[in-house]
Amino acid sequence: MNHTSSAKGLIVVTGAGQRVGLHCATALLQQGYQLLVSYRKMTSGIAALQQAGAHCVAADFSQLASMAEFIDALAPYPAIRAIIHNASSWQADLPVPQAVTAPALHDQLQQDAAIFDAMQHIHARAPYLLNRALLPKLLASTTGADIIHLTDFVASVGSSKHQAYAASKAALENLTLSLARQLAPDVKVNAIAPALLMFNEGDDAAYRQKALAKSLMAVAPGPDEVLQSIVYLLNSEYITGRVLALDGGRHLKLP
Ligand SMILES: NC(=O)c1ccc[n+]([C@@H]2O[C@H](COP(=O)([O-])OP(=O)(O)OC[C@H]3O[C@@H](n4cnc5c(N)ncnc54)[C@H](OP(=O)(O)O)[C@@H]3O)[C@@H](O)[C@H]2O)c1
Repeated sequence: MNHTSSAKGLIVVTGAGQRVGLHCATALLQQGYQLLVSYRKMTSGIAALQQAGAHCVAADFSQLASMAEFIDALAPYPAIRAIIHNASSWQADLPVPQAVTAPALHDQLQQDAAIFDAMQHIHARAPYLLNRALLPKLLASTTGADIIHLTDFVASVGSSKHQAYAASKAALENLTLSLARQLAPDVKVNAIAPALLMFNEGDDAAYRQKALAKSLMAVAPGPDEVLQSIVYLLNSEYITGRVLALDGGRHLKLP
């Protein structure tokens, strides 16, 4: 493994095993950046990234020991050009609890707490911890430094069925503001907040139609929309503390 920096620098992408993370990591590698990515389960995409020269590290960010191992894997690299916090889990809330007495009530509380904590851990705690641990390497970059948080349209409007998810993405947007204030002018810190980018395999035609109709543009633009935003932020000398909305005008799709 070559740990010396490429001319364009090292970019860290979390959760690069599939979809948006994989697309962005692959493209950034092709653009001449050095890539270190995390994955949780091994995928053909990770195998291809490895083959293309990316350093791929298995990590589950809900476990502090695993996160520490991931940070250790970065020890040989002198500097980081950017960290892209993409790892995510889109968990729905459970049905509203019906029980009012123990032990069923305790079970429901535990199940709700598990979802809430999992969402906070992957979307807010993991970026918070990684940014703090890797800050000296960001500050060591001689070609600029960026933190980019992948949030979500629902962070600003809420969600009826994914409340814990939406709250955790809102926490991440707030961390964007705090870190931008703390780290300027050395590190730019921004968020990208997509609405619908791409469907999941099991989404049926009715769901797809309903989801598309939520935005003015009425398309699922795919992961390249995120890549273009990342490149735009990396090339900017002035944008920090902002949430870049990729939502097809969804905020204006009013009744
Ligand atoms: N896709 C969309 O339409 C859309 C819309 C709005 C916002 N976003 C945001 O855009 C980003 C990319 O979306 P996506 O659809 O490409 O996400 P995705 O398909 O769910 O991929 C996220 C990756 O994060 C990894 N991950 C989940 N929990 C983890 C953990 N505890 N530790 C380490 N890695 C973990 C997953 O690994 P495993 O595969 O092993 O589980 C997965 O590969 C996300 O931040 C998402 O919230 C996406």
